[in-house]
Amino acid sequence: MRPSLRLTLVAAVALMATAVVFAQEVSPSPQLPVTPPASVTPTPTTGPGVTAGPQPSQPSTTTPFSPNMSPNYPKDPLLTRDSPSFPDPEYVKLLDYMFLFYEAQRSGKLPADQRVTWRNDSALSDGRDAGVDLSGGYYDAGDYMKFIFPLTFTMTETCWGALEFWDGYQLANQTHYLDQMVRWGMDWLIKAHPNDNTLYVQVGLTEVDNNYWGPDSGIPLPRTSFKVTNTSPGTDVMADAAAAFASCSMLYRDKLKDTTYATTLQTHATSLFNLAETARPQQPYQKVVPAVTCCYESSGFIDELAWGAAWMYKLTQDASFATKADNYISQLNTRSVQVNTITWDDKSSLVYILMAGATPPALRTKWQGFAQQYADSVASADKPNMFTEGGLFYSNGNSQLDSAVVAANAAFALQILANNMNATGSSDRDRIEKYTKFTVSQVEYLLGENPERTPYVVGVHPNSPANPHSAPASGGTDIGNINTSPKEERWTLYGALVGGPDKNDRFLDERDKWEQSEVALDYNAPFNGLMAYMVSTATSSPPYVTIAAGRPDLPPVLNGMAVWKIILIVVGSIFVAVAIGAFVCYRKRDQIRAWAAARKQRSAEKSMPKYVIKRSAPPRNHNDRDVEALEVGQGQGQPALLQDVHRTT
Ligand SMILES: *[C@@H]1O[C@H](CO)[C@@H](O)[C@H](O)[C@H]1NC(C)=O
Ligand SMILES: *[C@@H]1O[C@H](CO)[C@@H](O)[C@H](O)[C@H]1NC(C)=O
Ligand SMILES: *[C@@H]1O[C@H](CO)[C@@H](O)[C@H](O)[C@H]1NC(C)=O
Repeated sequence: MRPSLRLTLVAAVALMATAVVFAQEVSPSPQLPVTPPASVTPTPTTGPGVTAGPQPSQPSTTTPFSPNMSPNYPKDPLLTRDSPSFPDPEYVKLLDYMFLFYEAQRSGKLPADQRVTWRNDSALSDGRDAGVDLSGGYYDAGDYMKFIFPLTFTMTETCWGALEFWDGYQLANQTHYLDQMVRWGMDWLIKAHPNDNTLYVQVGLTEVDNNYWGPDSGIPLPRTSFKVTNTSPGTDVMADAAAAFASCSMLYRDKLKDTTYATTLQTHATSLFNLAETARPQQPYQKVVPAVTCCYESSGFIDELAWGAAWMYKLTQDASFATKADNYISQLNTRSVQVNTITWDDKSSLVYILMAGATPPALRTKWQGFAQQYADSVASADKPNMFTEGGLFYSNGNSQLDSAVVAANAAFALQILANNMNATGSSDRDRIEKYTKFTVSQVEYLLGENPERTPYVVGVHPNSPANPHSAPASGGTDIGNINTSPKEERWTLYGALVGGPDKNDRFLDERDKWEQSEVALDYNAPFNGLMAYMVSTATSSPPYVTIAAGRPDLPPVLNGMAVWKIILIVVGSIFVAVAIGAFVCYRKRDQIRAWAAARKQRSAEKSMPKYVIKRSAPPRNHNDRDVEALEVGQGQGQPALLQDVHRTT
């Protein structure tokens, strides 16, 4: 067979095989949940049991969303909902809801002014095993664990966001709740740092907690407390806690105007940063507390040392801290400037942003350069990052666990940089605009401008996630059936930002899909600041106000591609392959005829003795190209003719 022809046929066969494999994999088609929350009357096009198929992404429901539709929005005495268009009342509400979420996460004895009244006092004896009072603080996620590492990051981002976007907090009349949220966390961190040499980093046992899915009135025991000390240090948690104390101290000193509290917080910051720098050996905290390895293992402590130093500098304006931050970052950037995705574990990129807005003039250019390098890479989603088809910033290697949060952290960082560039009179209008555009696009995606038409904040729209992964909010007690028992989440976890959609912009609103439906302290943290920013700048409402109730039936996807596209590509490829094959056959019709004739001759000779065949010459009626082909064939090994003969005998 001629090589070109053989290739074409092989390709066609391979494509058909691929088509068969795909057809088997996509059948039956994966179904997306299309159940709207109970408050919405299901329409035939979005009701359960309707088969998904290639359809336009717009739901065909016509019920327009109005904020008054949902009867169970909590009433907030501090808010005037019927206020005029600026600040936008929906963004004001969103900022308010951010703090409702943190109230729902409270541990310990709840105060009289607790708005989330479905929560009970709980875990009042935390710390008793260690002879200290560790009651209070916040539960980390949808469980009853208390972890310090994500908490300190949450507090730092919240206090920083409040310092940067203070106007929004004031316009929304939210400074009171901001104060309450921060104080609830910092009061507990003060308890967790009972003396200069000790920091508690975890309360509760994951293996015990993981086996419990039930109300806050039955939290299982024991609740063991874990700590790091001057002799068994956890350099990262110590430095990270210093950053939390320093940033929140600044917030109380400069904005919330409680100098006594600010001074207390500063004392803890100084003590903890000193401990992180001096306690030996310097090491990640899981070396001392392996229990955290399940959930909040630290990948290194240099970024936290830089982060702590930067916040100490920002708080005290003592230049020696700026030098330290610079030295630590240099240790990370020995080869080139790292532009890492921001997470609770990696703050190096945030250090650039913080120092760009805070450095002494001598270092300003350098830090500004680092910060812009990071921000530019995010704004254009350089590899390994990308934008999903729907426009969400997606970091491969990070976003699969909480895509909404990765995007929110990036937007938070870029907007702070943009604001600081603007405030310091930068003439780089293009960058300021580019970063701001990125921020707004991510916020709008997360608030409904996405293929699922879903705001990823609980309780703001009928399409909001209805099944956040939260044991207390779910009302369930059957750990084997957390999705269906009870059928409807018992309490609405207002204001929780959930993990978010997958790489294909698809979202499964199911309690056990924790990568998508989990809630956590650090998830909301960048969103607090972003909502304050939107309050002070948005001239229109969040996208969800114009989105009709009911998620669209999105076509299923396979490995990042819509199935109908894959089928189209496969069928198209087969068609093209067949066409090419036909074309080649037509062009080579003379050779094919010659080949067929030769074959016919060979089968005629088949009955003859073998020595006759071996001596027979190649067919004579070939043209020049056949000679070439034959010579090539001979060069590679046996003469083509003999090869064929051997195979047929
Ligand atoms: C703002 O909050 C205060 C309480 O902190 C409340 O008395 C006041 O009515 C609120 N103002 C508006 C405009 O909502
Ligand atoms: C509060 O406690 C009661 C029992 O006293 C329980 O039924 C309820 O589920 C608890 N609430 C939560 C949110 O766990
Ligand atoms: C920049 O600052 C000016 C004055 O403070 C403000 O009016 C403007 O809206 C800001 N622009 C951006 C893009 O933040």
